[in-house]
Amino acid sequence: MCGIFGYVGKGEDAGRLVLEGLKKLEYRGYDSWGIACLKGRRLEVKKEVGKIGKVAVRFSKSSLGFGQTRWATHGGVTRTNAHPHFDCSGRVAVVHNGIVENYQELKKKFKKSHKIVSQTDTEIIAHLIEEEIESGKSFTEAVRRAFLRLKGLNAVVALNAQSHELAAVKSGSPLVVGLGQSENFVASDSLGIKDRADKVVFLSDGELAILDENRVQLFDAQSGRKKDLKVTPLNWEIKEEGLGRYRHYLIKEIYEQPRVVTRIIKEKGGEAAYLADLIKKSYGTYLVGCGTASYAALAGVYFFSTAAGHHLNFSLGSEFSYAEDFINDRSLVIGISQSGETADIIESLNKAKKKGAKIASLVNVPGSTLYRLSDFPILIGAGQERAVLSTKAFTAQLSILLYTAYVLAGRGADGQKLLNKARRSLQYVLNKESQRKIKKLARVIKDREHLYVIGRGVSYPAALEAALKIKEDSYIHAEGFAAGELKHGVIALIEKGTPCLVLAPHDETFGAALASAMEIKARGGYIIGLSPQDNEIFDYFIKVPDANLASIIPNTAVAQTLAYYLTLLKGYDPDKPRNLAKSVTVK
Ligand code: AGP
Repeated sequence: MCGIFGYVGKGEDAGRLVLEGLKKLEYRGYDSWGIACLKGRRLEVKKEVGKIGKVAVRFSKSSLGFGQTRWATHGGVTRTNAHPHFDCSGRVAVVHNGIVENYQELKKKFKKSHKIVSQTDTEIIAHLIEEEIESGKSFTEAVRRAFLRLKGLNAVVALNAQSHELAAVKSGSPLVVGLGQSENFVASDSLGIKDRADKVVFLSDGELAILDENRVQLFDAQSGRKKDLKVTPLNWEIKEEGLGRYRHYLIKEIYEQPRVVTRIIKEKGGEAAYLADLIKKSYGTYLVGCGTASYAALAGVYFFSTAAGHHLNFSLGSEFSYAEDFINDRSLVIGISQSGETADIIESLNKAKKKGAKIASLVNVPGSTLYRLSDFPILIGAGQERAVLSTKAFTAQLSILLYTAYVLAGRGADGQKLLNKARRSLQYVLNKESQRKIKKLARVIKDREHLYVIGRGVSYPAALEAALKIKEDSYIHAEGFAAGELKHGVIALIEKGTPCLVLAPHDETFGAALASAMEIKARGGYIIGLSPQDNEIFDYFIKVPDANLASIIPNTAVAQTLAYYLTLLKGYDPDKPRNLAKSVTVK
């Protein structure tokens, strides 16, 4: 979700620093960008629809500036709606991540008529601040009072050309302040600050920071009382690897998966043991995630049941807060999130934490909000994931959950063996011959409007994830189903030639998976079998060497690469699919 970056300091290169900071955050997904820098007493503004990656705009010398890559929520994707937005004087500017749920109501309560130029909810924040300043409030007090009137989850950064300050205040979406030498920064992600500051302050909900070139002050937004800064060293490695020999980050990250599994086998035994102990001691454990991470959570339920005879509960992050009345101080909630910033997870887990539940998490971003709110965060160590599609993080989440299930059963060594088996199967699926077959399959099905994926047992979350990869990158309508559900309605969708991926690992679901395939074939469906051996039922066969309970890992890799080739054939951007963001920090 939106990238925010701001600079105030004694330097004169604010424009270039802001542009570079936003480029570091562009992987988060957006559809327009804008930057405002102080030039004399006015603000110099540049805004565009589209990507910022190759932009080379130049700014006049400036010591104060900020900007945002915007992912549209209110108002279309237009240059006018791009952030920042301004008050009537043009001296107060605002960037914002979130949704002001009561913006129409606030607009109606304006004390005077304002020059509103955009369709966004964000712009009204600038005018709210303007009215507070006009009623004699300081910039700090004006931002604080305006923020308190906003309903919903919002992160707001305001710039004051007159007082040469930045103000940052949040509820929900993340904001981090970087403390430099005679310069200070604010960003939506510490990745943007990493090169310029080694100390940061992660703003908590309801905290307001005021930055100028000499200092950062922190206030409680509710009371206005000053607070001490809680400084965190920014000392974790954020290795930003380029594309190397790959055309896109998506295919690069898919091919990094075997190495990720190896690292987990080698390095995660201790954390798996600690997590297994927490699960053993809890009275009710809940696996919670969104999107791809939710499918890892669902797969975890099968892992712990099959490997350890232990019941874990699953919930979607966006649903958990409606179904957590039973959470208490003996519950354990395990949040799964690559970015560690997904609003649906953060909100649910904060509620669970307030009820006394212990919070564990599997996150890929150190210092992320989920990482910091967890009592026991596990860094999955997949390395930075830059494609919007989650692939290697998913495999890392699955590997850690599977490993933990086997450790809980007192069979850690068997868990390592199974993960090694999955790694070898993954390598087979990624080899040249397998990829040639998958590329050919993409050519066969690329013009189909619908595609289905079916699986049973742990192949059911695998089917859901396979379908998500294909739909979110190639925009082909793909749906994953529990194979047993076919006869309960889904089979009505099958027409002559409808392609259907059948996940048929040699586990206890094999026979039933083939039976489901037969039902589809009998109605004209085109059966694409993912299995250790070919079968006469399959119209197209992709060999996936056996990996038992871990078969979800190589099976998903088939779908990841199929999605990639379909997307290339259709001429879309595999790394940045339309409408999607890498981290969904709004509810
Ligand atoms: C993954 O391919 C999707 N882009 C999306 O479903 C993602 O998994 C979801 O938004 C959760 O993100 P998180 O893991 O960062 O919480």
